[in-house]
Amino acid sequence: MSERWAPETWRGKPAKHLPEYPDPKGLRDVEERLGRFPPLVFAGEARRLRSLLAEAENGGAFVLQGGDCAESFAEFHPDNIRDTFRVLLQMAVVLTFGAACPVIKLGRMAGQFAKPRSDDTETRDGVTLPSYRGDSINGMEFTTEARIPDPERLVQAYNQSAATLNLLRAFSQGGYADLHKVHQWTLGWVADSPLGERYRDLANRLDETLAFMAACGLTSESAPQIRETDFFTSHEALLLNYEQAMARIDSTTGDWYDTSAHLLWIGDRTRQLDGAHVDFLRGVANPVAVKVGPTMKPDDLIRLVDVLNPDNDPGRLSVIVRMGTDQIERHLPPLIRAITREGRKVVWISDPMHANTVKSANGYKTRHFDRILEEVRGFFAVHHAEGTYPGGVHFEMTGQDVTECVGGARAITEANLSDRYHTHCDPRLNAEQALELAFLLAEVLKDGRTQERGRAAASS
Ligand code: PEP
Ligand code: CO
Repeated sequence: MSERWAPETWRGKPAKHLPEYPDPKGLRDVEERLGRFPPLVFAGEARRLRSLLAEAENGGAFVLQGGDCAESFAEFHPDNIRDTFRVLLQMAVVLTFGAACPVIKLGRMAGQFAKPRSDDTETRDGVTLPSYRGDSINGMEFTTEARIPDPERLVQAYNQSAATLNLLRAFSQGGYADLHKVHQWTLGWVADSPLGERYRDLANRLDETLAFMAACGLTSESAPQIRETDFFTSHEALLLNYEQAMARIDSTTGDWYDTSAHLLWIGDRTRQLDGAHVDFLRGVANPVAVKVGPTMKPDDLIRLVDVLNPDNDPGRLSVIVRMGTDQIERHLPPLIRAITREGRKVVWISDPMHANTVKSANGYKTRHFDRILEEVRGFFAVHHAEGTYPGGVHFEMTGQDVTECVGGARAITEANLSDRYHTHCDPRLNAEQALELAFLLAEVLKDGRTQERGRAAASS
């Protein structure tokens, strides 16, 4: 597809999962206002993420992407942002220290509002209304009024994203992420659990390492890597009216960037080759990703890669695999083989959440901790067998003590789900489950890297 591209060319393509606004003039007015707002991220930051992702392609780094399924206006609070951020920091430290591998931290935060929905409508007690599509589009309350798409919500989503990002920047650069604070990242309710204890052990070992490094002259003052961290944002580029309004030309390179987040991805339901979502993302220079489920065919993946990364640039494209625990070993190998055969560069990321969603006997949308872990293990096993790199993981998670996924060290049962089920969309791992997963993952990652080194030594 070497067709002309401009930020608005997607409008001439078929688009799935976009809302119908009853007030097109109000929408145009909001788009124009957003177009004059400051960018949320800068092109140079997006380029930096691209170069880090190029490392992950070759096994030199590992991506940890996580956050809410859907951010919400109601749960917008500094404590929630801080708590999710600190769990991501904890997970990253477990992976970095446990597997001796640099971790690229990527939040599903500061812009993850719009959701694709399986059904356009929802029926309760005989009343049918349009589905809830995320807080940037309509309201979750089951009333006619709330479910009407309202363009003003885009301005609120922008403002909330800006404030969230501001706090994330302060946390990651302002001292909170200093490795000397590793003990303080533990959330109160996790501290007394077996996971809290396991984390304390690791933090103690890290303290010893830092003391040793300080004795060698490497301190927070002399080595900024100890006192601050890179933290990037990402979300699904679903609501193209918003994404187009955030597109800006970078004055350094003359390229277009979508300045709503560092990385944007296309969902499994909107990845049609000739569709609007692929068209929009092909033209922006950010690192981008595409979600891939069991219906993706190897040839179609190659065609999609051709459109999204025609120059085969390293770090430009990640493929987020979400096959389901029972499908991964069947469907992933043909995709990897096609990419390898065609010499395409992609970062392979595992999303073990989205194809493992089930309904509990008491009617909750949930996910089982063990099934999530098993899909990640399958993802690693397939890569190991194919001789390729598992480049990262993608989780829906929160720092809050929610009961949305079953299992884990505290053995949350289906009967517990109603205790604290707060998600606006899909069930999230709570902080303790997320940390437990990081520990289990660190072992898998470490084994894989040890075997990799063994293989490299044997072939040299
Ligand atoms: C999501 O990431 O919340 C989502 C809808 O994922 P997918 O496109 O993989 O279904
Ligand atoms: Co989700």
